[in-house]
Amino acid sequence: MSRKMKTVQQPRWYRPAWIEIDLNQLRQNFALIHADKPKPLRIISVIKDQAYGHGAVPVAKAALESGAAGLAVATLEEGVVLREGGIAAPILMLGERHPNELRDCLHHRLTCSVSDVRIAKELATSAEEAGTAAPVHLKIDTGMSRYGIRWNKALPTIAEIARHRALRLEGVMSHFAMSDETDKSFALEQLGRFQTVLAAMREKGFAVKYRHLCNTGGFLDLPQAHFDQVRIGILPLGVFPSAVCRRIAGIEPVMTVKAQIASIQNIEPGDTVGYGLRYRAPAPRRIGVLPIGYGDGFPRVRNQGEVLVCGKRAPLVGSVAMDAITIDITDIPEAQLWEEVVVMGRQGSEMISVHDMARLKNSVSYDVLAGWRERLPKVFIGASA
Ligand SMILES: Cc1ncc(COP(=O)(O)O)c(C=O)c1O
Repeated sequence: MSRKMKTVQQPRWYRPAWIEIDLNQLRQNFALIHADKPKPLRIISVIKDQAYGHGAVPVAKAALESGAAGLAVATLEEGVVLREGGIAAPILMLGERHPNELRDCLHHRLTCSVSDVRIAKELATSAEEAGTAAPVHLKIDTGMSRYGIRWNKALPTIAEIARHRALRLEGVMSHFAMSDETDKSFALEQLGRFQTVLAAMREKGFAVKYRHLCNTGGFLDLPQAHFDQVRIGILPLGVFPSAVCRRIAGIEPVMTVKAQIASIQNIEPGDTVGYGLRYRAPAPRRIGVLPIGYGDGFPRVRNQGEVLVCGKRAPLVGSVAMDAITIDITDIPEAQLWEEVVVMGRQGSEMISVHDMARLKNSVSYDVLAGWRERLPKVFIGASA
């Protein structure tokens, strides 16, 4: 490993609770994805919402170094932050654009996905004024009923958008509603609808360079839906979107959440712990306090969940507070003040997975990753120079 690959980028201020982002693992995950995929298939790395909470610019740089053909984000600001971070690669804007965003999209060379003739017209006008042609990806709604031109009424709209000289029809896309479950029937129906639109476009002579439908679930389980490129977000981060989708061996999480024990209390039988007296000690107990709480994105649970201390699992006791959680370390006497604790991730042979946290949060893995708050500093391992 080169010295550059070992670089650790520390936050400005020390805080005994932090997120570790292992960019070397991210590169390794990309390498495994590249080895797994058909050679011509292009990878678009979806890095919206701070690369699902991992840090947009460092993840984008590592993704592009690892062979991603482009990036995708959801908001104008996310796109501009990447440009200001020195990223020149193509960036696709997911979702719908407000007319007020179009000039900035053009100025920063952010590729819009369009599904509305009025937005297409406004984009064309702005592009003409700027003396340029704007690349666009047509969004087809094949079953999400969110953004996109409805699949069975698509052709007249496509024709209207395509007639603008200042728009360059670069891509056509859709999005799966359920691609990572065992039941693929709706995904296959969406694929069929997308193919119908593509065939009609071909027949009318509308040529596009990039056709794309797959997210991670589709990439893993629906190779017949790969087309020219796939838009994957969660897989390079080392998290599989469901328990049932195909696995690629060696892919591991990039994010670990850690904290240090900031206080140890030896409490007596009958003593209570924390707000609301939610835990009462049945016997003498050794309680560790971690300076991390719901203000950092930890789910606000009571007497639920575990963390890893000295390679062992320690249960949470009492209520999660804004800045603190309390853990029972009675059975881990070797745990000392400022001991490093894993809140989410691996320690030795034990693991608190993103999916464990999702159950605790009563939500999904995506929400857990993106849900850690900015207050928690990030330490990047293997940051590019
Ligand atoms: C339109 C679109 N494409 C692709 C993705 C990437 O999904 P995943 O993280 O499951 O790969 C997302 C994320 O939600 C999305 O909204």
